[in-house]
Amino acid sequence: VTALTITTDHPDAKSLVATILAAQQADATVAPRSRRALTRAAGSGRLVAAYDHAGTPVGWVLSEPCTPRTTELGAMYVLPGHRDGKAFRELTTYALAMRPKSIVVTMDGRFAQWLLDEWHLTETTLWGVTRASAGVFLVRRLAPWRLRAALGHVKQATPRYLILERP
Ligand SMILES: CC(C)(COP(=O)(O)OP(=O)(O)OC[C@H]1O[C@@H](n2cnc3c(N)ncnc32)[C@H](O)[C@@H]1OP(=O)(O)O)[C@@H](O)C(=O)NCCC(=O)NCCS
Repeated sequence: VTALTITTDHPDAKSLVATILAAQQADATVAPRSRRALTRAAGSGRLVAAYDHAGTPVGWVLSEPCTPRTTELGAMYVLPGHRDGKAFRELTTYALAMRPKSIVVTMDGRFAQWLLDEWHLTETTLWGVTRASAGVFLVRRLAPWRLRAALGHVKQATPRYLILERP
């Protein structure tokens, strides 16, 4: 069993971003982020990564704060060689603990159900996440590239709006 390190503190942010960009190119399941956006996220504690014992990144998730209490989690990804659920669970645990309130919006029904069953998120609506994020959820998607990505996704599936409020 190999221990993973989950952190927002990246010894080599440049190579982490390169790894994420390469994964995005190889696999279109996650809406792509630009090099600039990823580099900024990595430098400001918004990019959570899992590293193996050798210090190689094996998975990541973005935590994009909406308000001081609320963050939106996205772009969750685990590299194919590490899909035994361990990195996935450790990244989820870490990311959900970052703010009292977490928002997840996903088109992946299996992921949504897992967050409801195993992590006790609750299902809400577009209005629910908009209110919880003080409007930031919507404002973010007004960027043209985000709108294109969102519309492309909506044609294929129904978005699920999930929220977790820690006591
Ligand atoms: C989704 C992903 C992170 C899952 O990681 P993983 O290590 O392969 O997870 P596993 O297949 O070992 O499954 C672990 C648990 O997660 C659950 N799960 C939830 N959503 C899942 C999904 N979309 N795909 C696979 N498993 C998922 C499984 O049910 C499983 O629970 P179980 O152990 O009780 O059966 C990984 O496959 C991946 O990066 N895929 C491409 C990107 C993606 O789909 N991102 C997530 C949606 S935005």
